Amino acid sequence: MSLSFVPSLDVRGLAYAYPDGHQALFGVDLTVERGERVALLGPNGAGKTTLVLHLNGILSGGVGTVTVAGLPVEKANLARIRRKVGIVFQDPDDQLFMPTVREDVAFGPAAAGLRGPELEAVVVKALTRVGMAEYADRPPHHLSFGQRRRVAVATVLAMEPEILVLDEPSSNLDPASRRELADILRSLDVTVLMVTHDLPYALELCPRSVVLSEGVIAADGPTGDLLADEELMRRHRLELPFGFDPTARPTRKPAPH
Ligand SMILES: Nc1ncnc2c1ncn2[C@@H]1O[C@H](COP(=O)(O)OP(=O)(O)OP(=O)(O)O)[C@@H](O)[C@H]1O
Ligand SMILES: [Mg+2]
Repeated sequence: MSLSFVPSLDVRGLAYAYPDGHQALFGVDLTVERGERVALLGPNGAGKTTLVLHLNGILSGGVGTVTVAGLPVEKANLARIRRKVGIVFQDPDDQLFMPTVREDVAFGPAAAGLRGPELEAVVVKALTRVGMAEYADRPPHHLSFGQRRRVAVATVLAMEPEILVLDEPSSNLDPASRRELADILRSLDVTVLMVTHDLPYALELCPRSVVLSEGVIAADGPTGDLLADEELMRRHRLELPFGFDPTARPTRKPAPH
């Protein structure tokens, strides 16, 4: 079978209870094809982050399987899996731990073997993409939340993952940064799974959405169809912003002449 027919992500029957006994996932099935951009929607506590943390083996030990580009997520494969799956965590403070922004962004590529000018070029490129190149020598904990989120995105972009998983990437970003991140995500030739409560962002970026609710996939379909389904939305505590019409065609500014 040609590699292009292997899904980027294949989750089968994933069930998981935290060590305290709280069960968060009750049998999740999800397949994401190469190059797809999929939004993962659902109310607080639905299990979205729990699912995300299974995609590169941070959480494990439950029932079911997770396969990334044909490679099972299990101990023996973790180093390879973590190069393929780039996760931008919900909280950037879980991602940034080095004394400077530069060292944080360099960490992954250095672990993968890059050194010297080659490493520096990768770091500068990733920081430039998120508009944070000037902050390379600052300690991450001196940055604002939105700036730390942008650096966290850079740490993952620097790894050039084959699947990019973002847990609420637009939260706390100002409107310009939110749009710039959308432009970056659209420009990348990678599979994207994006957890978000920002439904217009899901509609703008992801042709397909899945709704996770109480630890199971409750809906899976074209984002516009899901957002227009008022009964589905109500049932899963999903609310569109005031005045937002998911069936309206996006208005695009005419190109300047
Ligand atoms: N470390 C933990 N120990 C025990 N239970 C946990 C732990 N982390 C999360 N949970 C529980 O698991 C369930 C799913 O949590 P999860 O963080 O995956 O939700 P979420 O969909 O990401 O929510 P949010 O939209 O608020 O980020 C919740 O009921 C939560 O209380
Ligand atoms: Mg979460």
